[in-house]
Amino acid sequence: MICHQAVKQESPAIQRLAALAKDAAVPVAPLPYRIPDFVFFSHATHLAAKVKCESCHGEVWQVDLAKPAVPPKMMGCVNCHKASGAKMECTACHELSQ
Ligand code: HEC
Ligand code: HEC
Ligand code: HEC
Repeated sequence: MICHQAVKQESPAIQRLAALAKDAAVPVAPLPYRIPDFVFFSHATHLAAKVKCESCHGEVWQVDLAKPAVPPKMMGCVNCHKASGAKMECTACHELSQ
């Protein structure tokens, strides 16, 4: 809440966030985008390849509750890799030693 004590206080979403921050017992919605530790993922590679945030996260700034545009499942990754000519080898995303 360090930023949002001052920024966008009038937004209903921020007011809800402020209420949540006051009451630590209230559960926060689970993060919609989480991949397991055995998968290698780097934002930097995707930004360098000019893949837009929206391609994976959807229009997060337009919605109340974020939902991924591409499911953070292997099929979601692999479908786009196939379509965009990116690496398809298992070892691009998984290290054999893991
Ligand atoms: C190719 C797909 C893809 C693109 C493009 C992408 N992301 Fe992500 N993003 C992910 C994945 C996958 C994770 C989860 C990483 C993990 O669990 O280690 C993530 C996690 C995040 C998180 C952390 C959310 C949390 O729950 O902690 C933020 C913030 C984020 N991305 C912002 C962005 C922004 C801003 C951009 C554009 C500049 C962007 N992402 C572009 C796939 C993507
Ligand atoms: C919307 C399209 C898209 C999605 C979804 C996507 N990727 Fe990618 N990914 C790319 C593109 C494009 C590149 C860069 C290709 C290049 O530069 O040769 C890339 C590159 C990578 C690389 C680097 C490969 C290398 O060594 O050159 C890894 C690792 C990777 N992605 C993992 C993931 C994982 C894991 C996910 C799912 C959580 C994911 N990607 C989802 C488009 C996507
Ligand atoms: C572009 C990235 C990417 C590539 C390439 C990839 N995977 Fe994955 N894989 C993922 C992600 C992300 C997950 C975790 C999410 C899930 O379970 O769908 C995953 C999960 C898995 C799992 C665990 C499934 C489960 O139910 O727990 C196995 C096994 C696996 N991958 C094997 C492979 C094999 C074998 C290949 C090569 C033929 C491969 N992967 C190629 C991204 C990738």
